[in-house]
Amino acid sequence: MKLDRKEILKALETITIAGEGKNMVESGAVKNVLIFGDEVTVDLMIATPAMHIKKRAEDDIKKLIHEQFSPDAIVKVNIKVEAKENPNEIKGKSIPGISNIIAVASGKGGVGKSTTTANLAVTLAKMGFKVGVLDADIYGPSMPIMFDVENEKPISIEVNGKSKMKPIESYEIKLLSIGFFTSPSQAVIWRGPMASKALNQMIFDADWGELDFMLIDLPPGTGDIHLSIMQSLPITGAVVVSTPQAVALADAKKGVSMFLSEAINVPVLGIIENMAYFTPEELPNNKYYIFGKEGAKNLAEDLQVPFLGEVPLVQSIREAGDYGRPAALQTASPLEKIYEEIARNVVQEVVNRNENLAPTEAIKITTMAGCSAVKK
Ligand SMILES: Nc1ncnc2c1ncn2[C@@H]1O[C@H](COP(=O)(O)OP(=O)(O)O)[C@@H](O)[C@H]1O
Ligand SMILES: [Mg+2]
Repeated sequence: MKLDRKEILKALETITIAGEGKNMVESGAVKNVLIFGDEVTVDLMIATPAMHIKKRAEDDIKKLIHEQFSPDAIVKVNIKVEAKENPNEIKGKSIPGISNIIAVASGKGGVGKSTTTANLAVTLAKMGFKVGVLDADIYGPSMPIMFDVENEKPISIEVNGKSKMKPIESYEIKLLSIGFFTSPSQAVIWRGPMASKALNQMIFDADWGELDFMLIDLPPGTGDIHLSIMQSLPITGAVVVSTPQAVALADAKKGVSMFLSEAINVPVLGIIENMAYFTPEELPNNKYYIFGKEGAKNLAEDLQVPFLGEVPLVQSIREAGDYGRPAALQTASPLEKIYEEIARNVVQEVVNRNENLAPTEAIKITTMAGCSAVKK
């Protein structure tokens, strides 16, 4: 079919951008379609800044024009992200000195979220970055053990006349954990608002200094508590950890859609496959896919989010975690290389994200003040 503006507009009505409900013409996302010879330019304005949504829209448009109109057309898709002006939303605080906050999440517990966080943190520090870890796992804070600072208590110091909590330091990582404030034997039931208040204090009322990366070890799952935490912190992006096992993958998928949901809207930097395979020391060339093969890698492909790499199931990773010295600190070991590759991918995705999306958007908090502004 000939390239015709009207026909193309009509055809675009068959594409819906994730999260927008109506098709892209009806929702007003298509701002313009221009044709010069065999070149088609489509201007889009969308509300969701998630990179994979932009990519999907672009791919869908290209495919449609190539398949229905001309396989040789040069298709350009310009996508702008709409700045939302909503009186119900006020800008939250960005955190001075902290460049990037990365939430590490998993749908399911026990898949190695904390182990991965600890190893990524020490690897990023070895690469020369200033790194902090905030252990937000209210169900099972494990950073104090993994960094061998179980018996430490953060002290309060005065910074510019204000009292601030001083993070504990271990292996050049600054660390605060919800575990420093509860006794291990005591069962603390945190509710969303309470947890996010405690976490807010650990972020805003702590003396983190300059950080390139703050990693947050989130609780497993996709509940209320996450909503509460994610809405009160300006998160740069999320990394989702999963084993290749079907039950873990199903939960990881829920995790990804939670981040991308309208209420949370945090870009997903990618998925890490943990316990990807087992290799016995005496048979270094044998790989056993105990939890299935490449499940997390395939999930990343399905969901069109980056795959950040795989970590094998290795006894020394578990031992290092229990001992309190992350395995990635072993210099010139295969594990060091494995975590280095993943850390490099994470950094690359953060760079991409920061180039493509607005700076870490301040978090939207619905306020009573906002409500009265609406009424006026
Ligand atoms: N790649 C791995 N190889 C061996 N053991 C691992 C690996 N990743 C995690 N573990 C172990 O599995 C258990 C659960 O890991 P953890 O990081 O605490 O999971 P989560 O934070 O997701 O609950 C821990 O005992 C940990 O030492
Ligand atoms: Mg954990």
